[in-house]
Amino acid sequence: MGSHEEIERRRTFAVISHPDAGKTTLTEKLLLYGGAIQTAGAVKSNKIRKGATSDFMDIERQRGISVSTSVMTFSYGGRLINLLDTPGHKDFAEDTFRTLTAVDSVVLVIDCVKGVEEQTERLMQVCRMRDTPVIIFINKLDLEGRDPYTLLDQLEEKLSIRVRPMTWPIGIGATFQGVYDLYRGKLRLFEPEKTKVEATSLDIADLADPELDRRLGVEAAAMLREEVELVNGVYDPFERSTYLDGKVAPVFFGSAVNNFGVKETLDTFIDIAPPPLPRATDQGPVSPEDPAFSGFVFKIHANLDPNHRDRLAFLRICSGRFQRNTFYHHVRLDRPVRFSNPTAFLAASKHLVEEAWPGDVIGLFDTGIFKIGDTLTEGAKFHFRGIPSFSPELFRELVNLDPMRSKQLDKGIRQLTDEGVAQLFTQVQGSKKIVGTVGELQFEVIRYRLEKEYGASCAFHAVQAYKACWLTSDDAAALDEFCRIKAGQIVLDKDDNRVFMAPSAYILDLEQRNNPAIVFHMTSEFKTAMAG
Ligand code: G4P
Repeated sequence: MGSHEEIERRRTFAVISHPDAGKTTLTEKLLLYGGAIQTAGAVKSNKIRKGATSDFMDIERQRGISVSTSVMTFSYGGRLINLLDTPGHKDFAEDTFRTLTAVDSVVLVIDCVKGVEEQTERLMQVCRMRDTPVIIFINKLDLEGRDPYTLLDQLEEKLSIRVRPMTWPIGIGATFQGVYDLYRGKLRLFEPEKTKVEATSLDIADLADPELDRRLGVEAAAMLREEVELVNGVYDPFERSTYLDGKVAPVFFGSAVNNFGVKETLDTFIDIAPPPLPRATDQGPVSPEDPAFSGFVFKIHANLDPNHRDRLAFLRICSGRFQRNTFYHHVRLDRPVRFSNPTAFLAASKHLVEEAWPGDVIGLFDTGIFKIGDTLTEGAKFHFRGIPSFSPELFRELVNLDPMRSKQLDKGIRQLTDEGVAQLFTQVQGSKKIVGTVGELQFEVIRYRLEKEYGASCAFHAVQAYKACWLTSDDAAALDEFCRIKAGQIVLDKDDNRVFMAPSAYILDLEQRNNPAIVFHMTSEFKTAMAG
């Protein structure tokens, strides 16, 4: 197979949802179709328990499973599919945001009872920034959910995307009979048996077909005819180009746990989802067809074995062909690197890869040379853009409880923050270390891992901080003066950028108004401005 064919057959995507909407269940069904797992429950049983705040077993289990399910590769319908996992727990949301930079499209799961939820909105904002193509799966149709029109309206309104139903539900909850596949002209009947592999489906291209009345009953059939007419009148016909531009999301209705509507979604996915897309760099876009290899690190995972400090860096390949035992250029460090044990993730187990192509994600053993966002090339000196460094929402001072192990603590916190678990800031005056995260659970994870992996013990103390604002200015003197006056609230991030720890929204607003020459950035993203 030539490189063009290798690229064309790859589809790299993620399933995203608000916790509990059914992401794990849907993922599992997709893997069953792809033959990547043989039994239901293989993914699910390893999920972190909902609402866990400090259950260390769960944290460990989550970490274990998130390595082995980080990338699930399987073949289906002539495509090679890379399904990237995203953590379910909201405290790990920033990990999800970064994973979204490594995919070419997403499938969004919505719970039909709850509709669009908070996390759905946040995830979609990230997709909208990059115009990522989105397929929506409205789940749990076996429950008494909201009516489909309300759901579709809510999707358009809250997610700022147009929708196009591809299937239409017949009844809901107790009266749910199945869906009509508008795209393929088929009636799919719902039989609530969890073990069933495929739903019964009948070719009914013409809705006037009396078979419809026989199958659904006269009343339900009449209602379906009416609704389909309405839907086709209200929504523009599906066009792949508007989906690929991220403007219109095709919508499917189903029930993941009953394996209903999953196959249609997958079949449509392999028909319409984009192959590996070009990626933006600080020197213009890089096409997957570019023969020179390039890729970026979007996730770093610590080794689960505490005796080995090495970590696994996940690299998304963007162009060319990656080969084992070949020297590549680590752009940030400006030095050659070579990997003798790169791994791929077929059928949820790791194995050695000799070569990999755009769209693929490989695991590279990392002895501490990688940070999130690092670029590897064949020699070119560009950086991939838009790998978000999240904006922390919670801040605590890191306090060393064992002075004999301060070196270990220092090393540990640096390495953990390289993984993107949290961000580290150091006070300019007084050199206190402040850790910023997006969730409470992260502090528990850090404390536990520092102890277990680095033998360092620490505590987290409250600090008065509302937002970390990265500072830039065209007026160097004004910036220096601001930092001098506010020295107590100025911290440095790991790259020695100056950051203002605003103690409250009020003070932030005040400082912004009093210092018009200074720009207050809410994320460190300004360094690698988001590009399409
Ligand atoms: P998540 O990864 O998005 O957090 O969701 P997950 O798949 O774990 O699903 C959350 C709950 O919703 C699970 O129930 C799951 O069984 C259920 N679920 C998924 N799809 C459907 C569906 O189509 N219909 C109905 N009625 N329920 C669905 P749970 O009680 O948390 O777990 P379990 O004990 O059932 O495994």
